[in-house]
Amino acid sequence: MSVELVEPALERALNKAVADVERTLDHLLPKPVDLEARVIEAMRYAIFAGGKRLRPFLVLQTARLFGVGEESALRVAAALEAIHTYSLVHDDLPCMDDDDLRRGQPTVHRKFDEATAVLAGDALLTFAFEVIAHEETHADPRVRCDLVAAIARASGAHGMVGGQMIDLDAEERAVGLDLNGITRLQQLKTGALIAFGCEAGGILGKAAEPARLSLKAYAHDVGLAFQIADDLIDVEGDAALAGKAVGKDAAAGKATFVSILGIDRARQQARMLADQAKAHLDHFDDRADLLRLLADYVVERKS
Ligand code: IPE
Ligand code: IPE
Ligand code: MG
Ligand code: MG
Ligand code: MG
Repeated sequence: MSVELVEPALERALNKAVADVERTLDHLLPKPVDLEARVIEAMRYAIFAGGKRLRPFLVLQTARLFGVGEESALRVAAALEAIHTYSLVHDDLPCMDDDDLRRGQPTVHRKFDEATAVLAGDALLTFAFEVIAHEETHADPRVRCDLVAAIARASGAHGMVGGQMIDLDAEERAVGLDLNGITRLQQLKTGALIAFGCEAGGILGKAAEPARLSLKAYAHDVGLAFQIADDLIDVEGDAALAGKAVGKDAAAGKATFVSILGIDRARQQARMLADQAKAHLDHFDDRADLLRLLADYVVERKS
């Protein structure tokens, strides 16, 4: 996927990250052989359908701040993208958002079938742990354990899965959410995996606490801004550009920042969060410039 952006330095770096992460995923994912080939074909279909690879980019950029080797960072980046992709495969299922289009292609349950989509998602999740636990990810087993614990927390009941539950509760059981509730929903549903992406560099590089705290604060604000932008794309976006259906959140009665704040205030809030995110990087020198540019891109993006 090529990223068209105003800022050429970020565009170059994002395109390179896409190529590097896709090469790593191709190398690490199982090959579709033997009687179980179908689930592997579905895993590979979901992963290689496209995608901006923003979470991997966060891993690569935060790892760079601490001089982490590229191979280690790419393996963690690939694992995170596998978990994110699994979350999309399940999010699109008929029992969840019931979507036909993802990353510009038919969703996995449309291309294959529902059971295969559930299994492909399950296998992408467990693949991520296999990759991180492998000694090629880091020579120090303690670092590998810390990564496993952190990505598990970010993905589970108090992370992405918990956020998806709050999202569905709000829609299907009309559990009312105020601004605090929506903020918690978004922090878990979207923010947790983005936060892991920013945390990973510090874990791999055994970074000191102040640097980790700065990145945590950056991730918090970028994560919220990211989901507000996603909600704005649903209201104002173009399905051809977004690669997924738009106009579905309001129709489904989803609780979003846009449904509570309206379009203009939601956009203002996202811009404010991007500025705040950049301010948290004051701790770092110009090696964090791409992370600064990314905060703006996350808000302005159309896909
Ligand atoms: C979409 O994430 C799902 C959300 C958490 C909002 P992305 O916008 O990062 O989707 P891809 O990976 O680029 O397809
Ligand atoms: C899904 O949020 C976030 C996940 C954890 C997968 P959305 O349902 O808003 O994501 P899109 O709009 O379908 O990409
Ligand atoms: Mg959803
Ligand atoms: Mg969805
Ligand atoms: Mg959405």
